[in-house]
Amino acid sequence: MKRIAVMTSGGDCPGMNAAVRAVVRTGLDHGLEVFGIRQGYQGLLNGDFHRLTSFEVSGILQRGGTILQTARNLEFKTPAGQSKGLRRLNEHGIEGLIIVGGDGSLRGGTALHKLGFPVMGIPASIDNDLYGTDMSIGVDTALNTILDSLDRIRDTASSHTRAFIIETMGRNCGYLAMIASIVGGAEIVSVPEREVSMEAIHDSLVDAYVRGKSHAVAVIAEGVSYKTTDLVEYLSQKGDVGFEVRLSILGHIQRGGSPSAFDRLLATRMGVKALQSLLDGQSGMMVCMSGREMDLIPIEKAISQVRPINPNYFDLARILSR
Ligand code: F6P
Repeated sequence: MKRIAVMTSGGDCPGMNAAVRAVVRTGLDHGLEVFGIRQGYQGLLNGDFHRLTSFEVSGILQRGGTILQTARNLEFKTPAGQSKGLRRLNEHGIEGLIIVGGDGSLRGGTALHKLGFPVMGIPASIDNDLYGTDMSIGVDTALNTILDSLDRIRDTASSHTRAFIIETMGRNCGYLAMIASIVGGAEIVSVPEREVSMEAIHDSLVDAYVRGKSHAVAVIAEGVSYKTTDLVEYLSQKGDVGFEVRLSILGHIQRGGSPSAFDRLLATRMGVKALQSLLDGQSGMMVCMSGREMDLIPIEKAISQVRPINPNYFDLARILSR
């Protein structure tokens, strides 16, 4: 193998740049030519390939987002799009591809792998929804961002004797909301994996009020079946919560920012492992964190189900909120 490519795809997250840097520098160390594909699958289909030098990845370790940019692309989901992508890779003499992204992006990688093209995946998504890895890149930084917001919101909630509904990201997976509720000291948490009814949220806020708390916080993952705006409306209509109720949807703030030390190290180790595995002849595999080690799992398995939340966390959240 003489020439490989790396791309970032799907929703961005802090640490993607650290992974790209690790792939490029490890590749160069092995005497490879490394190309960056801009804007994920869209760039792959458009032939947007650029040779990356060590200099080009210098000064990016601490930067959020992705210098390669990213995009959500529909064309590559079709068989015609996939053969066009393979054609572009062949046109540029690329012999292996490393994809840094979430479940949708890695699914595209399996398609190329099945067409016989060597592909390695690196899990990068703040949702932590990829099965088979203890952590994905970006999760730790997003959690710290949420925690910082939650602490600030608690300050003002306390001053005004208010209850806050805080909505976190997490389309199918409530990991961010669950951990944020435990380490941020929320009264109650609702996630797609174990949804809490609006009535139960109401009851827990009332309970916090009658016990004399100066504020209360409910953390809700965006993937639950009701909208947080409807929840706030429901609580206001009840009229007996005690606290004034406010809503804060954290949104894309959670996706930006400089990666934490944990994410920089995780991304670096995953980038190195992906490159070395590609050279070892692996394909169709995702790098995963298993305890203290970097390991591999078939991409198909990693995207076959949503990473489950440790069931103990539900008890922890309940006990510690009292
Ligand atoms: O998958 C990561 C994620 O941030 C989800 O938590 C969220 O639902 C989604 O991406 C938002 O996507 P977009 O940036 O395309 O609106």
